[in-house]
Amino acid sequence: MGRLDKLPPYLFSAIDQAKAAALAKGVDVVDLGIGDPDRPTPASLVEVMAAAVADPAFHRYPAQRGTPRLRQAIAAWLKRRHHTVVDPNTQVLVLIGSKEGLGHLPTTCVEEGDNVLVPDLGYPVYGQATLLAGGEPRVFSLAAERGFLPDFAELEKLADEKTRMIFLNYPNNPTGAVADEEFWKRMIAFTTKHNIRLVNDAAYLEVVPGGEAALSLLQVASPSKDRVIELHSLSKMFNMTGWRIAFAVGHPELVGDLGRVKESMDSGVFNAVQETATYALGEAFEGLLAEVMDVYPKRRQVINAALAKMGVEVFPSPATFYVWAKVPTEESSIEFCGRALEEIGTVITPGLGFGTGGDGWFRISLTASDESIAEGARRLEGWK
Ligand SMILES: Cc1ncc(COP(=O)(O)O)c(C=O)c1O
Repeated sequence: MGRLDKLPPYLFSAIDQAKAAALAKGVDVVDLGIGDPDRPTPASLVEVMAAAVADPAFHRYPAQRGTPRLRQAIAAWLKRRHHTVVDPNTQVLVLIGSKEGLGHLPTTCVEEGDNVLVPDLGYPVYGQATLLAGGEPRVFSLAAERGFLPDFAELEKLADEKTRMIFLNYPNNPTGAVADEEFWKRMIAFTTKHNIRLVNDAAYLEVVPGGEAALSLLQVASPSKDRVIELHSLSKMFNMTGWRIAFAVGHPELVGDLGRVKESMDSGVFNAVQETATYALGEAFEGLLAEVMDVYPKRRQVINAALAKMGVEVFPSPATFYVWAKVPTEESSIEFCGRALEEIGTVITPGLGFGTGGDGWFRISLTASDESIAEGARRLEGWK
């Protein structure tokens, strides 16, 4: 079987098709499925970008690993925000979105016959990128009883001398679970013992309404010594999903290897976008972040209140912009979410889309407009 043939079907395309069919029938659909901020990028960032676009100095091939200015801004930001000191020359790499970095990471170290530990439930790219690199994704569970954190006994059983990497994602999409210092210490001890590269997908690290920074893996690890790499993204942080800008920070070997793979694949991020990111991570950071995140707590309250009226159990989390909730019936998550579209014209995401471990749960995204959130909540609470 070829590598492409091993890729699993993408469940979210089935949801898109069902939504399109409902729209074609004239249903007034409320979409609480998409994890893509409804609001625009902050105006000050658009202004910086507009000026940069007009400047011919930015029109040539980009700085492949990131402009020195941006890599320095990232290192300074990490120090201020997450109390971590890294060398901007060897430990920071600019990415075309964190999906790009995640997609290329297995290629840095996976040979035919090797395996990679991937969470079930999780962002599908971890397993798919492993398959495309010729490796075997070995799935570990994230159970609700453990706060959607892995079971170390299970990891010990799965890991062997062919295990090259483990993918984690905290704060977690879709559950909103967060990892604390004690967890990261145990995880670093586990990966060090087995000589496994530890990847944390931190795309949601700054999506913590209220402004308090969540814990970065880099704060617990020693990124010059431990074989860790963490991927950060401006996508959700600053409503910049369409701009494609993110960065990896970690051990020089892991960052360097990813840079080498990328050198053969792409030519970096448009320098005008890098210039905008340099500004965003500087002094303006806190104000911009508050501007972006301040809408979510109110929306969460509205949705949580509707779910409470339905008697639905919600996984408590202040992190991310999702609400992760338990299917209140005997149905599978696909059946339940299918019925929500059919009966109340509301798109919600079945947990199964993130892996078998997600079945029995569904996700509501808070990235729809306030009006859509209010209308979705109204429909849900009146739904029998
Ligand atoms: C868990 C997770 N990681 C990474 C990404 C990719 O983000 P980006 O490529 O926009 O940085 C997403 C996007 O939805 C995500 O949900």
